[in-house]
Amino acid sequence: MNAPAGNGIFARARLRHHANRAAAPADAHVPEKLREDFSPAANQKALHEISAWRDYRPGDLAELGQLAKECGLGAVYYKDESGRFGLGSFKALGGAYAVQVLLQREIFSKCGARATAPELEAGKYREHTARVTAVTATDGNHGRAVAWGAKRFNCNCRIFIHAGVSEARAGEMRALGAEVERIDGNYDRSLEFAARAAEVAGNHLVSDTSTAGYTEFPRLIMAGYSVLMSEALAQMNGARPTHVFVQGGVGGLAASVAMFLWEQLGAARPRVIVVEPELAACLFESARRGRPSAVEITRETIMAGLSCGEVSLLAWRALSLAAHDFVTIPDELIAPLMRMLARGEPRLEAGETGVAGLAACLAACAQPEFKNALGLDAKSRVLTIGTEGATDRELYGAILAGKNP
Ligand SMILES: Cc1ncc(COP(=O)(O)O)c(C=O)c1O
Repeated sequence: MNAPAGNGIFARARLRHHANRAAAPADAHVPEKLREDFSPAANQKALHEISAWRDYRPGDLAELGQLAKECGLGAVYYKDESGRFGLGSFKALGGAYAVQVLLQREIFSKCGARATAPELEAGKYREHTARVTAVTATDGNHGRAVAWGAKRFNCNCRIFIHAGVSEARAGEMRALGAEVERIDGNYDRSLEFAARAAEVAGNHLVSDTSTAGYTEFPRLIMAGYSVLMSEALAQMNGARPTHVFVQGGVGGLAASVAMFLWEQLGAARPRVIVVEPELAACLFESARRGRPSAVEITRETIMAGLSCGEVSLLAWRALSLAAHDFVTIPDELIAPLMRMLARGEPRLEAGETGVAGLAACLAACAQPEFKNALGLDAKSRVLTIGTEGATDRELYGAILAGKNP
């Protein structure tokens, strides 16, 4: 791989950093009110259920030794979610798991049976599941995960997408049997449409974004995401990260990661750095203002999965205490880094949103002021999360061919 520190784009990248002064001190215990929403028992249950799915296997953890050397870091890990259930992103861990639990509850309420995932997959309760419709809004990956869960567990699925979601991504969801509707406006507007449509039709909204009074599915979804951190810690063979760079859309993934690490590692937990595109930095803005704050999305970022203007309320509550830093990055870093990873050793198929955490790490390391502010040095073991692979094949091909700068 090219030397990132010497590579001009990283050294010149426009970064913003906010150190979260409200972060809980290292020796603080997880507050009880947060433990209700991010319960270790719920994480355990999600791991137990998901690891029993037919084609479950942990996502790889790559160690990027050359990059670590060039950045002057002790180690850089990349948790590669590109192979997750053939869907190309970590999202199935949340969306499909929520569909499973929704159906289990529906079946229990209709006939008192405790359906298992294999029974749902085999269509044993089809007379009940065929009457259920899961509705959601998406930038692409969450919808694909819900559609996949609906197909796998035999219910219906209706998805709202916004004007900026590519036709390729819409096609992936339709191929899984979902009814996909495109609305005018951005992600936040598509979520309003989904919520209204679910209410009018008496369907179930399976959203990853929690709002006042809507917490149950987001909570399950974040429990599902924790599976990837549980795998990552096991894959590190006793080594522990000192820093985690994690992407923030509505904040669900970052909150799940931060809370899992707080519960598991206590005072030895790593510094959690939430990374967002500068074009959609609602978590950064919330941290700066000390309360959940929306930002207007005026231009879509190339990091499509992070194009969210409003935070998930539960996620924000956790991140306001559990995240140490908030960073924004410009779009210009993404395509060059995707090409670099595709040609590197190990060869990584990394999508636009998937590389954001690593992009922030490389840019920070190429700028002494930021490297220092984030406490990165030769002893640091940095974990980044490659949250997606080529989830839009057309765009991925164009970027690799250099057609998209
Ligand atoms: C690939 C990818 N990475 C990260 C995220 C961010 O997750 P969250 O919206 O829970 O913050 C998303 C969200 O859709 C995504 O698709």
